[in-house]
Amino acid sequence: MEYTNKIIAGDCLTVMRSIADNSVDVTFADPPFNLKKKYNGYIDSREFEEYLHWCQQWIEQMVRITKPTGSIFVHNIPKWLTYYASFLNSVADFRHWISWSAPTSPMGKSLQPAHYGILFYAKDIKQNKCYELRSPHKRDRKSEYLSKDYGGKKAGLHPYGPLVSDVWTDIHRVKHNKYRDEHPCQLPIHLLERLILMSSDEGDTILDPFMGTGTTALAAKRIGRKYIGIELDTKYVEIAENKLSQEIGDSKLGETWVSFFLRKVATLRNIDWEIVAPYFIIPEDPKQIDVTEIELNQDIDEIRDIRHISRRVG
Ligand SMILES: C[S@@+](CC[C@H](N)C(=O)[O-])C[C@H]1O[C@@H](n2cnc3c(N)ncnc32)[C@H](O)[C@@H]1O
Repeated sequence: MEYTNKIIAGDCLTVMRSIADNSVDVTFADPPFNLKKKYNGYIDSREFEEYLHWCQQWIEQMVRITKPTGSIFVHNIPKWLTYYASFLNSVADFRHWISWSAPTSPMGKSLQPAHYGILFYAKDIKQNKCYELRSPHKRDRKSEYLSKDYGGKKAGLHPYGPLVSDVWTDIHRVKHNKYRDEHPCQLPIHLLERLILMSSDEGDTILDPFMGTGTTALAAKRIGRKYIGIELDTKYVEIAENKLSQEIGDSKLGETWVSFFLRKVATLRNIDWEIVAPYFIIPEDPKQIDVTEIELNQDIDEIRDIRHISRRVG
């Protein structure tokens, strides 16, 4: 496709309308939330009805261009997702409402918002590509002991970590200025890597109509996928292209694509565990898992390029 591995500067509706039906594997959208965020060019304050009408148009396009085996993801605050879901239910198949636990802007004087939602729809649930994932066990920050009490069931613990649920508490927003671009709402790359590992295979194409400074494209490239990005603001396009030109695309243990964060494996596919297990030191006694996290058996710098890994900290 002419747009493959490109970030197109332009309006997502216009660009998506020029893309064929059933032609991309995964679509992911992180639109402006209509919360008056300060973007470089885009004005983030539309009338209520106008915003929802606009959202419905690009969601419709996302569903149209996604392959029958493909997935559609939309990220937003719960308020807007309730409207999106009601529309998506009529054109695609609901899979999950992923709750991404991360403090959001304080709003009103009721409950403090503490999560974003990611709607996960299949174009066709019967054909949908979807892989189970694993992430490291949650541990006490100081003692390293497992946070959860497995009681007498510790012997059956998976050495690396449990299957990923629909509540994600282990991925934090990009806070530190050192790791941020000049963009008000940049997503963490390993959030996108997790979604992409779950819903696609090597060589598949991931399209993001609101690319910002390139998070989805970088994640796709790092784990061996193709990307198509659309972004209205040329300043953001430039930042994204610059980062992409430095990206190697080697987020692997041996020949297996995994997601790294802070020099550790943050997400892997359940079906890949047997293949990647030899890269970890796994204690003979499974109860040892209770007290300490398993480590990679080689220095990570020997497995992958150190310069590449050390950038992965934002
Ligand atoms: C929430 S941000 C996306 C941030 C992105 N996920 C990242 O990690 O960098 C929304 C983006 O949509 C862009 N945008 C707004 N209207 C658009 C349109 N009609 N077509 C394409 N991009 C648009 C804005 O410039 C902004 O960068």
